[in-house]
Amino acid sequence: MGLTTACCLAKIGHNVIGIDVDESKIKLLKSGLTPIFEDNLESIMRQMLAAQRLTFQHDFSSEISACEFIFLCVPTPQDEDGSADLTFIRQATKSIAPFLLANSVIVNKSTVPVGSTLVVEEILGRKDVSVVSNPEFLREGSAVHDFLHPDRIVVGSSNRQAAQRVADLYRSLDAPLIICDPASAETIKYAANAFLATKLSFANAIAALCEHLGANIDDVMNGIGQDQRIGSQFLKPGPGWGGSCFPKDTRALVKIAETSGYDFALLRGVIDFNEIQFERIVHKVRKSTGGTLTGRTIAQLGLTFKANTNDLRDSPALRIGQMLITKGAKIRSYDPTVNASFGGLHVCKSAVDACTNVDVVLITTEWAEFSKLDPDLIASVVANRQVVDARNILDANQWRRAGFEYQGVGR
Ligand code: UGA
Repeated sequence: MGLTTACCLAKIGHNVIGIDVDESKIKLLKSGLTPIFEDNLESIMRQMLAAQRLTFQHDFSSEISACEFIFLCVPTPQDEDGSADLTFIRQATKSIAPFLLANSVIVNKSTVPVGSTLVVEEILGRKDVSVVSNPEFLREGSAVHDFLHPDRIVVGSSNRQAAQRVADLYRSLDAPLIICDPASAETIKYAANAFLATKLSFANAIAALCEHLGANIDDVMNGIGQDQRIGSQFLKPGPGWGGSCFPKDTRALVKIAETSGYDFALLRGVIDFNEIQFERIVHKVRKSTGGTLTGRTIAQLGLTFKANTNDLRDSPALRIGQMLITKGAKIRSYDPTVNASFGGLHVCKSAVDACTNVDVVLITTEWAEFSKLDPDLIASVVANRQVVDARNILDANQWRRAGFEYQGVGR
């Protein structure tokens, strides 16, 4: 998020200094390479470095004292009790406080519990510097696109003038602007992620119902998604949702609610249901091996939490893989972004290699190359023709014609 924000702010015409406490990362970035897999990011970064609108620094004291805006893009990991850990926000604020220019604005982009803008103001201890909450809505894999084509810009501050100055930074993007108080801006970020997770769990629950009713989830979701009040996005059933944001932010919002005296039972249910979804996929695999997983070999295709990213954090694929291993199965996995075995997962060189001599083929990430697999070729290498398509990306009829027993999600 920090790197995308830095590169895209430069792209829309600002002069940006990207700062990180990790010196090796700064070295890599200065050489024109990015440490993450993000569509279009590296090329924009190189253009901006060449245009001298973007530089990277490890030692920041002199640079920060010349900046009008300082964006905080530090991580807020999950604490043991589910709440967001503010250690990095506190450290970053403390370390920059003495160097800030009078009238500069601290823009917080990190996802922080409601009330954190006030915490930053207190740590800062400077009346001449404003703090503004400006949450991000970037998806991994399409972060550059999301930054340059936002659905809305949200700016929260008790200082209207500072909020307007931050909003003006984005003027060229021509997006609807919401200026509000900091608590509302912070709540918008959590509520957006919690709503999307709820929508996904709802889609997964309807998929389970479809299996009982003999209905087809693709048609059902198409039918409800055409209603503009519902919307067609985020209705694709899968193995359960994951990644570095939804699991952390939904638990944090439950905790924020609890601390404020509200029991967010609905969201607790959404989180619990996601666990049930992982179990439902494990159950499908067990069904395809005749009721036992002990000693069975499974080809698991896809390890990242979704396609077009190399991020494995809180990946449903990894959770499901570990659950299968705990129940006695052996895994042969393949993912286009993973090349070394880890955690009991044997990582193979290709999808066909992973499928060789296995009892079941399980698809857990929707990489485009998996939907293009030739079922006849896979049929010729597997021990048993069983496929569990936890992303509904295969042509079920084509796989059935190749002799496979096909199980999708809600189809
Ligand atoms: C999410 C939000 O979509 C962003 O708006 C937000 O800025 C970001 O979190 C954040 O808080 O930083 P991201 O974590 O990149 O973005 O992932 P998503 O694309 O939202 O996917 C989350 C999970 O839902 C994945 O496991 C994905 O496979 C799953 N998903 C998504 C489905 O199962 N079906 C869908 O139709 C869509």
